[in-house]
Amino acid sequence: MSELRYMTGFGNECATEAVPGTLPEGRNSPQRVAHGLYAEQMSGTAFTAPRGENRRSWLYRIRPGAMHGSFESYSQPRFHNDFGNGPVTPDQLRWNPLPIPERPADFVDGLLTMAGSGSAAGQHGVGIHLYAANRDMQGRWFYDADGELLIVPQQGRLRIATEMGVIEVEPQQIAVIPRGIRFAVTLPDGEARGYVCENFGALLKLPDLGPIGSNGLANPRDFETPVAAYEQAEGSFELIAKFQGHLWRAPIGHSPLDVVGWHGNYAPYRYDLRRFNTIGSISYDHPDPSIFLVLHSASDTPGTSNLDFVIFPPRILAMQDTFRPPWFHRNIASEFMGLIHGAYDAKADGFVPGGSSLHNSFTGHGPDAATFEKASSADLSKPDVITDTMAFMFETRAVLRPTQQALDAVHRQRDYQQCWQGLKANFAPPSN
Ligand SMILES: [Fe+2]
Repeated sequence: MSELRYMTGFGNECATEAVPGTLPEGRNSPQRVAHGLYAEQMSGTAFTAPRGENRRSWLYRIRPGAMHGSFESYSQPRFHNDFGNGPVTPDQLRWNPLPIPERPADFVDGLLTMAGSGSAAGQHGVGIHLYAANRDMQGRWFYDADGELLIVPQQGRLRIATEMGVIEVEPQQIAVIPRGIRFAVTLPDGEARGYVCENFGALLKLPDLGPIGSNGLANPRDFETPVAAYEQAEGSFELIAKFQGHLWRAPIGHSPLDVVGWHGNYAPYRYDLRRFNTIGSISYDHPDPSIFLVLHSASDTPGTSNLDFVIFPPRILAMQDTFRPPWFHRNIASEFMGLIHGAYDAKADGFVPGGSSLHNSFTGHGPDAATFEKASSADLSKPDVITDTMAFMFETRAVLRPTQQALDAVHRQRDYQQCWQGLKANFAPPSN
């Protein structure tokens, strides 16, 4: 295996080879590929997508991706896209961290579906999952044909060996694995926990910056794609596929991570959230949280996202004559939040690293009573320097339907609404 190295840039044309002379010159599929390899194209967008949107890569590999046995159903009932059709509660919902499993579970078996909208068949919406794993994926690989995977580690590093190279991520970094790319996850720290957003819609991309200008938020040069790395292993292995909401398994006699070189712009990448250039108010009030947008998946309606990935990183709140934490709000959008590290400034307690909350469309939420009291009388003469925090939000235009297993989970906080009950009616009209 080659050493871990990365290429920078978002959506760039990359060209990488683990063995010199692998990539053909001047054509994509020569009559004979160098070193006896096979050529295979992976297209992540329609062939005719406009050039700026078009994503495809050419893979030069030891065996083509078609070589495996027949798929049969694979049972991992906690990981699915069954978001139900019945009534969905408008309650505010919150969960403690998903416990690390007591039995051995790898990344695939450690996934638990929390909520979602839309479907893979409809090519819109998202699935939101948690993972808690304590075992390496051994002798098996996974791919998701239904959506690209935005992986947000919260505890423990992940080593994600993909067809196109190896990505390592730690908490406060993210990885994005495009649809269809095969990979295996190992756990350098023995245990790992985090969040996964499965995006059924348009590929994630960097937002336009408008009046912000040409710099700021997540900068393209900080996105890293791995260089080619291949392995040659033969044996009795397993390929797990997620296809149209269900899991499948097929026998495979070799490691599918056998791509010796590739070029193109359809590839996995990682990003360090600590590199985000956070922008905010330097006068009064605070902007909408869209100012914290890292990546988004567009919907068919301009300005309205299928998925926004937003973070709340360390930042300085210097606004004057303003309630500095996020205000109470009700939005048409639906918000699934997680906390990677530290404390979140709108909640005094109860929202801990590894925890989650779900506030669906027009469900009221905001600071809890303790935070309201503290922030209402805070000294605004000095800035608040918020350090040691990293919260995030998966925000969507569609209602996120919690799964039954999420509603029934032992780690759900059934008393979450109590955090607002201490807010007093302070209204005191002047007496005439
Ligand atoms: Fe919110």
